[in-house]
Amino acid sequence: MGAIAVIGGQYGDEGKGKFVHYLVHDKKISLVGRGNGGANAGHNVYDPERGVALALHLMPSGVFGDKTVNIVGCGTVFNPHSFVEEIQAVEKAGVKLTPDNLKLSSRAHVTLQTHRIIDGATDKVGSTAQGVGPTYRDKAIRTGLRLEIFLHDDWKDKVKALLQAHNKELENDNHSELKINIEDEIKKLDGSVKVIKPYICDTVSYLHEQLANNKDIILEGAQATMLDINHGTYPYVTSSNTTAGGVAIGLGLPPTAVTKSIGIFKLPMTRVGKGPFTTLLTEDEHDIHDKLAGVKGTKGSEFGATTGRARSIGWMDLVMAKYTAMVNGFTDLGLTKLDMLSGIPKLKLCVAYELNGKVVENMPADTSLITECIPIYKEFEGWDEDISGVQKYEKLPDNAKKYVQFIEDFVGVPVTMIGTGPDNSDMIVR
Ligand code: IMP
Repeated sequence: MGAIAVIGGQYGDEGKGKFVHYLVHDKKISLVGRGNGGANAGHNVYDPERGVALALHLMPSGVFGDKTVNIVGCGTVFNPHSFVEEIQAVEKAGVKLTPDNLKLSSRAHVTLQTHRIIDGATDKVGSTAQGVGPTYRDKAIRTGLRLEIFLHDDWKDKVKALLQAHNKELENDNHSELKINIEDEIKKLDGSVKVIKPYICDTVSYLHEQLANNKDIILEGAQATMLDINHGTYPYVTSSNTTAGGVAIGLGLPPTAVTKSIGIFKLPMTRVGKGPFTTLLTEDEHDIHDKLAGVKGTKGSEFGATTGRARSIGWMDLVMAKYTAMVNGFTDLGLTKLDMLSGIPKLKLCVAYELNGKVVENMPADTSLITECIPIYKEFEGWDEDISGVQKYEKLPDNAKKYVQFIEDFVGVPVTMIGTGPDNSDMIVR
């Protein structure tokens, strides 16, 4: 299979973890790598054997695979404190992590406590306040620190210098009250560094050796295409490249390595943070909204895994799907939450936009124009049958099949997987 990218086709939270789980457990893919983002991601993974559900952030979703090697690649940003918490949560769930099954790129950039503080103090787009934007900023202006520093004795001097620069920045921006005690932070960091140090290595050489030995790898996307810093609704985006190409580069793989690019789409779609959302449910659709949102804290409800924020909910946007399929070269589509649409009498899919009185069929490049787009919907008859847990496409009601078929035909990419419930086994594979 080679390198299989699993990428969000919308605004994130599409349920990518379920597909990674399927590829790890059913297809026995031996490597899972993260190539972008940091602790801003929230990937819910469930291990039926151990009966454990975890919300992972930077840890790759392959941790429950018996023989899976998990790689945190060079393109990620790495918060030692929160990663140690993830290691502890995974080990508490009964998985033994060792340098053989967890590898952290020495080239990944370090997120310090002050990056998080600066993120919270300067955010304009509704960020997750995990320090991701400021860490990528420091990387781009070449003042950042990579995980490699922790392999050298003078790491404390380097961290100290950056913490001092951040404290000065906070002072200059009239946020003196947010400055941190540097000695305390270094002491805390010392504990986290001891835990992560054994896992730091050159993940690029390792990955290429594995590929040369015919091993397969999942490129686990974080966030989603419409949050990509180049291709999303800038500035309401994250700070990394979230696309198939971006994740490959973030793992040190050439673009030609990607053999399969699976786009994950949620029915209905959601967004957190600020930015345009053309197909947002209207006030009149509040009943549908309440049904789809679910109850906070319950499985599958629409509240952020990282922040707990309520997600905005809307109809699936096929103009967007066509665009994200193009940018990522999707070879397959995976749909999630088809079961949630049961019982809604009329369903919609957005097939074009109206912009300044004209019909637009392609995603505008200009975010201010996207904001002005009005959705043009095609309506579909719904179905009443409960389809939770259905595993065979033939068992779906005809109206559900028509809905799925329309998506496939419109985007021009086969729908090969369909989620029908929160459990990993609630899935149709075609
Ligand atoms: P940041 O990545 O924390 O800087 O946040 C930038 C934007 O991306 C905000 O609108 C966030 O809500 C959004 N975002 C970041 N990570 C995720 C995610 O994993 N799922 C959905 N939205 C995200």
